[in-house]
Amino acid sequence: MGLKKILKDRIYLFLDGYYSDLKIRRSEYIKKEFSKVGINFIIEEPLRYLGLKNVTVGDNVSIGKDWRVEAFNKHNDQEFDGRIQIGNNVNIESCFHIGAIGKITIGDNVLMASKVFISDHSHGNVNNPDEFKLAPAKRPLYSKGDIYIGNNVWIGEGVCILSGVTIGENAIIGANSVVTTSIPSNVIAAGVPAKVIKYIDIPQN
Ligand SMILES: CC(C)(COP(=O)(O)OP(=O)(O)OC[C@H]1O[C@@H](n2cnc3c(N)ncnc32)[C@H](O)[C@@H]1OP(=O)(O)O)[C@@H](O)C(=O)NCCC(=O)NCCS
Repeated sequence: MGLKKILKDRIYLFLDGYYSDLKIRRSEYIKKEFSKVGINFIIEEPLRYLGLKNVTVGDNVSIGKDWRVEAFNKHNDQEFDGRIQIGNNVNIESCFHIGAIGKITIGDNVLMASKVFISDHSHGNVNNPDEFKLAPAKRPLYSKGDIYIGNNVWIGEGVCILSGVTIGENAIIGANSVVTTSIPSNVIAAGVPAKVIKYIDIPQN
């Protein structure tokens, strides 16, 4: 092995160590911004955040890169108490966007594929024609209610979950579904809007 190659390897090794150390330190710094974080919380960067003081995370949670998380306490001249609660043993893939002006709860053992979007609000109440006089960004944020995702739910790739929705425990939401109304426990739901396509009969023993 030539000297040049040895030196090159050493430099790469040093840079690898330096950047992973930097990543760990930044991730430890970001964790301090949350209201509460459990053990074994893994977040991949980059992430974009607002209001982490109103976000709690349980034990053994991992969230992939390009996470956008927003718990609003203010938007234009409106005030909110946006809260996000993530349970234990939750795994979420990359490009996860979650935004709350009310409360969004994710239960234990929830698995989410990439590109999932969960939001409890819209830019304006589309049933109020007066609001159309304003540009979308200036319209008051409007919610149909909190969002609750039960334990053991599996959410497929590219799913959107909108305001006022509860997803019952053990439910599966098919890829690219848009969940606009509540989904009961122990079912598979899919489509736009998401509807129950199958009932799951879970053995009791
Ligand atoms: C929801 C899902 C689990 C259902 O699987 P399944 O029980 O084998 O479903 P089937 O293939 O028997 O489909 C049943 C019906 O639902 C429809 N369907 C299934 N998945 C659908 C989806 N994501 N969106 C819309 N319709 C769907 C099928 O077209 C079929 O309709 P039909 O009865 O009119 O023919 C699966 O289709 C799915 O979307 N998996 C998610 C994959 C994913 O995101 N993986 C990420 C890895 S982490």
